[in-house]
Amino acid sequence: MPYGSRLAAMMTRRIGRECVYTPSARLALYLALRRWCRPGGRVLMSPVNDDVILFVVLAAGLRPVQAPVSQWDGNIDPAAVPESTWRNVDAVLTTNLYGLPDRVVQLGRRCDQLGIPLIEDAAHAIGTHVDGQPIGTFGKAAAFSLSKHVAAMAGGFLAVEDARTRRELELLRDDLLTPRRLRDDLATTLRPLARSTVRTLHLVRPVWRTMQRLGLLERDAFRMALHAPRLAGSARHAPSLAAYEPWVRVDLHGFRSRHGALVRGQLELRMTLLEGDLARRRAGVSLLSGTTWSTPALRDRLTHDGPPSLFRVPLLVNDRDALADRLVDHGIVTGYIYDPPLDDYAGAEFAEPSPAPEAARWFASHTLPADPLTARRIAAALTKEGATPAHPPLSAHLPAADPTTTPPTPLGH
Ligand SMILES: Cc1ncc(COP(=O)(O)O)c(C=O)c1O
Repeated sequence: MPYGSRLAAMMTRRIGRECVYTPSARLALYLALRRWCRPGGRVLMSPVNDDVILFVVLAAGLRPVQAPVSQWDGNIDPAAVPESTWRNVDAVLTTNLYGLPDRVVQLGRRCDQLGIPLIEDAAHAIGTHVDGQPIGTFGKAAAFSLSKHVAAMAGGFLAVEDARTRRELELLRDDLLTPRRLRDDLATTLRPLARSTVRTLHLVRPVWRTMQRLGLLERDAFRMALHAPRLAGSARHAPSLAAYEPWVRVDLHGFRSRHGALVRGQLELRMTLLEGDLARRRAGVSLLSGTTWSTPALRDRLTHDGPPSLFRVPLLVNDRDALADRLVDHGIVTGYIYDPPLDDYAGAEFAEPSPAPEAARWFASHTLPADPLTARRIAAALTKEGATPAHPPLSAHLPAADPTTTPPTPLGH
């Protein structure tokens, strides 16, 4: 039996596609990029994304091309991508930021016309659908992360179109896995338990502040340190996961570990809890989307399809950085802030700049990603802090309406 096949079968039952189990979504994305893109190729992606993903693209020997995004949800705005860019990309990578779906129908159509692969990053979007079809079934391949929705801090999948491709990718994966170590497996199993204990005991604030003071966090700011000269040196070895490991492993050092039965057993158990988790998320999304800070993109979606089970709810607020810091005093640590956008963060040497960067800059600097599982607490804290809603300044550049997305609804609250 292939490694992780029981977990893979559980995921196949969910989305109806052949799945390869991986220890992380980032490894799944690396596999997809290696399988479908030739080194030296160019990948269109959103700059409002985890920095780790930029490094995964670089590790695969590819040039990350930053796309214009929608100011309403931070995902690629296909209509704003210049024709000259379309003609010069070899693949498209979606984000499905915070679980809000990319414009996959339009992107898929465009990729088909150009004969290039659509690769879906569904790490945030395990419960997201477009017209009843699960995100992760629109492209050639899709990466899922169990670290996100079931708080497992390990595990992922690469979903593909057929069994032959799955078998091919299982072999590619096996070559990239590092040997199992009992100590790492124990740490991987205990870490989520330690985290929930800290929450239950209301110790988030002192623990977080102490880690900050002791320099135990991997990021000083929202982005990790780039170490540009070292990064440029790694390009000589690309494609290579090993050469980029110091960047790719941030937040998840076991991203390519061959976890044993202990970790996989725990993941199987957590996957059986997924439906309950998604239902609780929907309830939290419903609550937060009715607040003054909700993005209209979400309100519009709710009106048409009911509340989606998002990974995070993008709230649009003024003075976001100061607010995020004050939320720590309420026991709320805000992760997954992708600011600045990747082209501003990495510079043109490592990321081809977007031709229209304003929407990404605005969205990245005003978004407070709120965990729907703690919706009530977050809404109460924001009210207490007097948080004010932020309104996009670029209303003149509304993207054309399309069925998979955004609202051109007025901004009244
Ligand atoms: C958008 C996005 N994609 C992929 C990943 C990688 O997921 P994993 O931690 O399972 O490797 C992350 C991690 O935070 C992410 O935010």
